[in-house]
Formats: sequence, C-alpha cells, structure tokens
Amino acid sequence: MPEPLVLGIETSCDETGVALVRGDTLLFDAVASSMDEHARYGGIIPEVASRAHLEAMTPTIRRALSEADVDLSEVDAVAVTAGPGLVGPLTIGASAAKALSIGLGKPLYGINHVIGHAAVNQLVDGPFTERSMALVVSGGHSSLLLVDDIATDVTELGSTLDDAAGEAFDKVGRLLGLPYPGGPHIDRLAREGDPEAIRFPRGLTARKDQARHAYDFSFSGLKTAVARWVESCQDAGKEVPVADVAASFAAAVADVLTAKTIAACRAHDVDTLIIGGGFSANSQLRDMAAERCAEAGIDLRIPPIRYCTDNGAMIAALGSAVVRAGLPPSDLDIAVDSSMP
Ligand code: KG4
Ligand code: ZN
Repeated sequence: MPEPLVLGIETSCDETGVALVRGDTLLFDAVASSMDEHARYGGIIPEVASRAHLEAMTPTIRRALSEADVDLSEVDAVAVTAGPGLVGPLTIGASAAKALSIGLGKPLYGINHVIGHAAVNQLVDGPFTERSMALVVSGGHSSLLLVDDIATDVTELGSTLDDAAGEAFDKVGRLLGLPYPGGPHIDRLAREGDPEAIRFPRGLTARKDQARHAYDFSFSGLKTAVARWVESCQDAGKEVPVADVAASFAAAVADVLTAKTIAACRAHDVDTLIIGGGFSANSQLRDMAAERCAEAGIDLRIPPIRYCTDNGAMIAALGSAVVRAGLPPSDLDIAVDSSMP
C-alpha cells in the first residue's frame, strides 16, 4: 500500500500555501503571498489578507496539483491550519479544506501551525530523532517545543510573554525608520555594526525570572530600551548609530533565544535542535546557534528559508504524520482558533 497522499492548506497570515505530501516526501509546494499589499500599511491587514486568500486559493490548489502531477481524486486526506493565526484568513483556508473534504469524501485534519513549522523539517532532513527540541520563531510566534513524537507528543516548554522575535524586529525597524517588515533590514544593518556597542537587556534571564520563566521569552522590554536609547541620542542632538543599534539589538535577541534553547536541550538530554519560522532567516540567530550548538555537541537543523516562512508543506507534513499515527480526523464542524495553544 502506498503511503497516504495528503493535501495541506495554510492561510494563517498573508501566505496562501498548498502542498502535496506522500509519507515524508514533498511532491509540490505552491505559495502565493499578499505581503506587497500589506507593506504599504506597515503591518498585516487581516481583511486584505482574507480577500487575497479567497482569490488565490483555487489557483494555488490547481497549481500544486498540476506541478505535482496529481489528480484531485488521488488525495487521501486534507490537512488545514486550524490555528493559531488571524481568524479571517484561517477561516478562508478552513472553508476551502472542508469543501474539498466533503467533495472528495476524504477525512479532514485540523493542524496546529506552530508544530507545523517544526514538522516541515522532516521533509528536508528526514525523520526526527527519538527526542528533539524545536525553536519556532517568526513574526507571530516564539515557542520552544520538546518533540517526542511530532504527531502525538509535543510539549511547549516556553513561549514569548509579549512580542514574538520577528515582531520585535519589525517594531524596532519602525522606530529606526526602516520599511516594513523591518526584520531583514535590521539583519542587513546589523552585519555592518558592532554587536557589543550597546548593552541592551536580556529579557527573563535574571535569576528571579529563572524559576518561573526558564524557557519563556520577553522582547518588549528590549524594544523599549532600544526606543529610549534612540530618543536619548536624538534629544542630545547626536546622530543615531543605526548599524550599532541594529547589531546590539540583534545580538540581544539571538543571545536570549540560543542561551535558553541550549539550556533546554541540556536539561532534557536532547542533542538535535530544529529551528523554524520566518525569523530563522536571521543571520545573527543562525550564526550564534551554529556556534553554540557546535560547542554543546548539538546537531542543528535549519531548513532552507522557503520552508521556514509560512507554507503549505509544513501543514501537509504534519498532516501526513498525524494520518500515519492513526489519529482520528477532525469533525467537519471544526472551528478555527486564533490563539490555539
Ligand atoms: O514566518 P513568517 O514569514 O511569518 C509569520 O508567521 O510571522 O515570519 C516573518 C517574520 C517578520 O517579522 C520578519 O521581519 C521576520 O520574520 N524576518 C526576519 C528576517 N527575515 C524575516 N527578522 C530578522 N532577520 C531576518 N533576516
Ligand atoms: Zn508561521
């Protein structure tokens, strides 16, 4: 018996992603994005994203099927992001998935987007080791997951208490006058600056926070510290050393993310670390993670960036694992959950 063919749909934010996965093999991954429409507003506008998903959905499904050389009737299961994410965009994806499930008479699986960011790694680097750690960092989430079985046994050890890492970069980008999204611009500027020029705070690393928040993150205090520092420069009539600010800020974020993640690996006796989510494009994080993982003897897996940003392959990959684990399908009246744990 061939392994089941799973069609995955992702619409939690601005990307309309559709992919076909059989077992751990990706047949095709089609993505359309409405980011160009949001960039001029300086943030994602949910209504605009929902409308774009509605327009892109059928062409993206058709494209994935045709590029994978698969007929819709061959699909064995439909997997769709059920949360977390923006309610309007999630609803468009869920409606399309329900329609396909009913039309095809095939089961529907509601998928957790954050776990999907970790699951997609299997399509690139092969099956997970017995126990692995996953750091999922993007504009919407910063979570540390202990993965014993990607389909059935994932524990969230910690997450951000306020801003996600990418969100903090975008907000600091705004205050430095950079275009939206600011993350990649700060990354580029930071490579020209001195990461030790300014000592910005490392949130939730003080001894008093360790007991309750050993693996949680907080970036809003850091963002405020950057804002104050920039204001104090402006008040004194000095030019803001943008590259040094970017480098020192990026170093603070990378330092906290990698230090807490490696501490979690040590505490749970894990020697494989997966990093996923759009923020894993960040070069300061990549460099620091590579260096610290090498020192700690941890095997670091970061997939190519197109599988780190939101895509359908991550949902099809986790859907495929869930189907193979024999978990029951979702009910057709499944709702979406914008703050799914
Ligand atoms: O996963 P993603 O495409 O969408 C979300 O689910 O959020 O991640 C986008 C986020 C944005 O906040 C963006 O600024 C940030 O990731 N980002 C970066 C870099 N590339 C993308 N942040 C810092 N450095 C980068 N190179
Ligand atoms: Zn995401």
